[in-house]
Amino acid sequence: MTVETVIVLAAGEGTRMKSAKAKVLHSVAGRSLLGHVLHAVDHLKAKEVRIVVGSGRELVEEHISHIAPKASIVFQERRGGTGHAAQLALAGSTPKGTVLVLAGDTPMLTGESLAAFIAAHNAGKFAASVLTAEHPDPTGYGRIIRDDSDELLKIVEEKDATDDQRFIFEINSGVYAFDGAALAASIGKLNNSNAQGELYLTDVIGILKGEGASVAAIMIDDFTEILGVNDRVQLAESAALLRDRINDEWMRAGVTIIDPTTTWIDATATISSDVTIHPGSAIYGTTTIAQGASIGPRTTLTNCQVKEGASVLESIAADSVIGEGSTVGPFTYLRAGTVLGDATKAGAFVEMKNATVGSGSKVPHLSYVGDATIGEGSNIGAATIFVNYDGVEKHHTTIGDHVRIGSDTMLVAPLTVGDGAYTAAGSVITEDVPAGAIGVGRAKQRNVLGWVMRKRAGSKSAQAAEAKEKKG
Ligand code: UD1
Ligand code: CA
Repeated sequence: MTVETVIVLAAGEGTRMKSAKAKVLHSVAGRSLLGHVLHAVDHLKAKEVRIVVGSGRELVEEHISHIAPKASIVFQERRGGTGHAAQLALAGSTPKGTVLVLAGDTPMLTGESLAAFIAAHNAGKFAASVLTAEHPDPTGYGRIIRDDSDELLKIVEEKDATDDQRFIFEINSGVYAFDGAALAASIGKLNNSNAQGELYLTDVIGILKGEGASVAAIMIDDFTEILGVNDRVQLAESAALLRDRINDEWMRAGVTIIDPTTTWIDATATISSDVTIHPGSAIYGTTTIAQGASIGPRTTLTNCQVKEGASVLESIAADSVIGEGSTVGPFTYLRAGTVLGDATKAGAFVEMKNATVGSGSKVPHLSYVGDATIGEGSNIGAATIFVNYDGVEKHHTTIGDHVRIGSDTMLVAPLTVGDGAYTAAGSVITEDVPAGAIGVGRAKQRNVLGWVMRKRAGSKSAQAAEAKEKKG
C-alpha cells in the first residue's frame, strides 16, 4: 500500500465565503468541494480516510454519509488551526506507513497527481513532503522557503511573511505526505505564536527540518490543480477551470462542443462520441448522452438518459429518459419520471411529468401530460391537457396504442382510452373511451342567425341597415 491513512481537513468556517453553508459543501461541476477531494483520494485506495469536520457539522456529516460512507469522522469543536485539526485526527496514535494530509477545499486536484506525489514521497523516503506550485499570484497562500542549495526549509504563511518572502511565487498547496511516525512525533510540538494565533500544520515541516529529518517540496507543473477555494470569486474561477478541463476531455473523446465557454458539463455526466452540444447548454448530474445525439442550444439536462441519435432543442429536462431517435423541443419541459420511448416526439411548449410515452408516439404541440401512460404510435393533438389533479389527489390516465386524441382535449383522470380510439377536438373526456370508439365530450354547435346585427341595435350600422330595409 502506497498510502495507509488520508486525513482531510474540512472543519473551517469558510468565513470568506460569507455563507450559511459550510464552505466544503459548496459545489462546482456537480460535486461539492469536499466531494471532488474525496473523489481524487478514492483513486489512492488508502486503507483509511479520516475527515475533520466542525463548522456546519451536521450537514457536512450527512453529506459524507452519502459520498464516503466508509470514512471516519473526527469532530473539531473549536477552530484551532490546521495543526490542531491534524492533532485531533491523529488522536495521539502513531499511524503506520505514509499519511496524506490535505484540505477539503481544493477541487481541482486529480487522483493521478496525488498518486504521483505519494510515489515521489515514498521513493525519497522523506519524513515529510509538501506539494507545491509556482503561482502567478501567490497572494494568500503559504510560501515555500528554500535554503541556498534549494532545499526546503520551512513554510511561511502570508500573514507572517516578510516583504521579501511575499515575493516568493512557490506556494504551499496544503497537500502533505508524512511518514506516520515522524508526523506523530512532531505534531505535538506546534505552538500558536503566529499572526493568527493558531496551530499551523505547515510548521511541522520547519520542526522536522530543524531536527535533521529529510523534508521535500515536490512541485507540480499545473498550478491550477492546487487552487484552494476560499471565497466566491475563487469558487467561480475553479468552476470555469473545471468546465474547461471537462470539456477538453470530452472533445478529445469525440464530442463536438460548439462553444466550450458556455457549455457546462458536470464531472458526473457521461457523453458518447459524435454527440453535438450546442451553445448555452448544461449537462448536470448523472446524465448520460448516447452516440449521435444533439443537445441544445440552451438546453439543461439533469440526471437524464438521452439515447442514440435523439435531439433536444432549447429545453429543460430532469430525471427523464429520452428514447433513441426521439425529438424534444423547442421549449419543452420534461419533469421527473418522464420516459420517452424510441422515435417519439415531445414538441414545442409541451410539459410532461411522470409520463411514459410508447415508441413512435407524438405529443407535438402545447400540451401538458402528467401521470400518464401512452401506448405506441399514438398522437396527442395540440393543446391537450391531462387533467391529473382534482385539487387533492393526482390520478392516472392510460392511453392505448394508435390512439388519436383530438386537439384541445381535456382528459380528466382517472381515465383509460382504448387502442385505436379517437377523441373529438375540444372534448372534455370524463369517462373511459373503449377501443375503436370516438369520445365526444362537447356541446353540439348551433348557429344563431342575424345575432350580430341584433346585438348592435341602435348602433350606426344597425340604423343604416334599418333605413335601407324601409326604403326597399
Ligand atoms: C492553508 C495553508 C497555506 C496553504 C493553503 C493552501 C496553513 C496554516 N496554511 O491556508 O500554507 O497555502 O492552505 O490552500 O495550513 N481547517 C480545519 N480546522 C481548522 C482550520 C482549518 O479543519 O482549525 C481546514 C479548513 O476547513 C480547510 C483547510 O483546513 O479545508 C485549510 O484551512 P484554510 O483556513 O482554508 O487555510 P488557508 O488560509 O487556505
Ligand atoms: Ca484554503
